[in-house]
Amino acid sequence: MMNTKSEILKILRTSKEYVSGQSLCEQLHVSRTAVWKAINQLKEEGYAIHAVNNKGYCMEACPDVMNETEIQSILPKDTMFTNICYYDSVGSTNDEIKMMAEQQAPEGTVVIADRQTAGKGRRGRQWTSVSGENIYMSFLLRPSFEPEKASMVTLVCAMAVREAIEKQGLSPVIKWPNDIILNGKKTCGILTEMSTQMECINYIVPGIGVNVHQTEFPDEIRNVATSLSLEKQGMYRRGQIAADILVAFEKYYGLFTQTGDLSLLKDAYHKYLANMDREIRLLDTNGTRTGIARGIDDQGCLIAEIDGRTEHIMSGEVSVRGILGYV
Ligand code: BTN
Repeated sequence: MMNTKSEILKILRTSKEYVSGQSLCEQLHVSRTAVWKAINQLKEEGYAIHAVNNKGYCMEACPDVMNETEIQSILPKDTMFTNICYYDSVGSTNDEIKMMAEQQAPEGTVVIADRQTAGKGRRGRQWTSVSGENIYMSFLLRPSFEPEKASMVTLVCAMAVREAIEKQGLSPVIKWPNDIILNGKKTCGILTEMSTQMECINYIVPGIGVNVHQTEFPDEIRNVATSLSLEKQGMYRRGQIAADILVAFEKYYGLFTQTGDLSLLKDAYHKYLANMDREIRLLDTNGTRTGIARGIDDQGCLIAEIDGRTEHIMSGEVSVRGILGYV
């Protein structure tokens, strides 16, 4: 449910002119006092709302926050993401939402945090999760498709994150299947977890970590990690980016569930696939092979030409690298 503050932000954000107090009261069906109170609270939270006698209010600047009020004021009214839960600090947003899922939280629940104390990466790795810098976000899906299709949700997510970062004036690409890359370095990782019951999906939790303002990284990842700020200086607002990810996800997820595969998304995916039609190295327990990446198939497998043969590689089976290094 949108609260009065979110609704006021939404109206001020979309209006090019001053909006009168009277008009806010009428649009929101609340009293003058309620509008006045909400505006004062928003100002205290860092929103630069300018008030002019006989004209009304206009918003001149928004703070870099990711709370429920902010995200909801950006999402469209008919969004599937209706339950936004913000935490200053949480163990892992994936674990938090899995706990909520076990307690019957509805599809479209989002957990977003400023900091994680036990952020999880893939393959049991840690995900460094400092405060005030990045986006740590997970959401809950309760689909009716088969568990075999769940890995495709990660690719859908990657498309959404890529699009949201591009909106910030950068040129991200996707490193199949889980990473978003800026200038050869990773700026986002995705960890999708699933719970099944009697061969059906109970729930899926995609977890997204985007490095936004971070400029210092631990030694082990310094050469391969980056952030939006490191690649292009800017006044990034994490709430806007997080909301843009959710909006883009809903759009792409709709196209995915229409067919139950990636047939409607493949062409767009190929445009942004790192190493498309280039040489790649495939690393698995048997060693390294080289091939040419030819895109993805309808099931999200990577198509690679290896020694004149075409192979369809499932995510999780191998690590894929470009010929020159990490990407
Ligand atoms: C990876 O590239 O290894 C995946 C990293 C995924 C990190 C995100 S941050 C939000 C969510 N919560 C977690 O504990 N992990 C994911």
